[in-house]
Amino acid sequence: NRPGSIYEAIGGADAIHRIVQAFYKRVGVHPKLIPIFPEDLTETARKQTLFLTQFFGGPPLFSEERGHPMMRRRHLPFEITPTRRDAWLECMNEALEEAEIEDPYRTAIFEKLTLTANHMMNTPE
Ligand code: HEM
Repeated sequence: NRPGSIYEAIGGADAIHRIVQAFYKRVGVHPKLIPIFPEDLTETARKQTLFLTQFFGGPPLFSEERGHPMMRRRHLPFEITPTRRDAWLECMNEALEEAEIEDPYRTAIFEKLTLTANHMMNTPE
């Protein structure tokens, strides 16, 4: 846990859990995202919990279990178009609201995830 991290400021594991729950609830019913995600999102949500914990300055849970994040490479099997990037970010924006993440952390989180999401695009429309 990095002192002063976003992870710590928003309330740690409990806050990450709320974000991930609210996020995959939306991903699972989003018409633009359904085609590339598995039907059962349990395992996807579990890995995302590990990743976001680490990404926002908590313990390095993702790397302990899965090794180097290599997020772009892990996404290459999926066609990530600008439309899907927008859909992903829309789900995340709503999830941050539902999880009651307050500013300035909410904006900071969304900006960091927007940069990563841009980096994940690998297919034109
Ligand atoms: C895995 C889609 C952006 C983090 C996945 C999977 C899909 C996907 C289809 C595989 C799910 C599975 O088989 O369980 C997308 C789309 C994005 C996006 C459409 C739009 C830009 C991001 C971003 C992050 C992220 C911005 C992190 C900030 C992850 C993680 C996994 C994952 C941690 C699990 C990787 C693993 O350990 O195998 N994503 N993703 N994704 N995604 Fe994304």
